[in-house]
Amino acid sequence: MGSKASGTWLIEWAPSGARWVAEAATPLLLSAEAAGIALASSCRNGTCRTCLCRLRTGQVAYDIEWPGLSAEEKSEGWILPCVALPRSDCVLDALPVSF
Ligand code: FES
Repeated sequence: MGSKASGTWLIEWAPSGARWVAEAATPLLLSAEAAGIALASSCRNGTCRTCLCRLRTGQVAYDIEWPGLSAEEKSEGWILPCVALPRSDCVLDALPVSF
């Protein structure tokens, strides 16, 4: 499972260009907040989809069995940062305005 990975990765929030270092065992939303970067969130457990964003580059893993994403959404690069654990350097993108 994802929590067994270790190490740190460089994460970029593409809309602002903000960057932060993320621990492999810490969800991206929490590592962003620790770096002073506030991303949208609500439930923080992978169900409400408020934090939904696109993974432009990189890889993430999930400790929960089935975060609130369809298989199709996952394959399209959508992630839930409140429960997504980094597994490489990542670039995250915001929702398009028309979503
Ligand atoms: S904050 Fe609810 S799914 Fe991420």
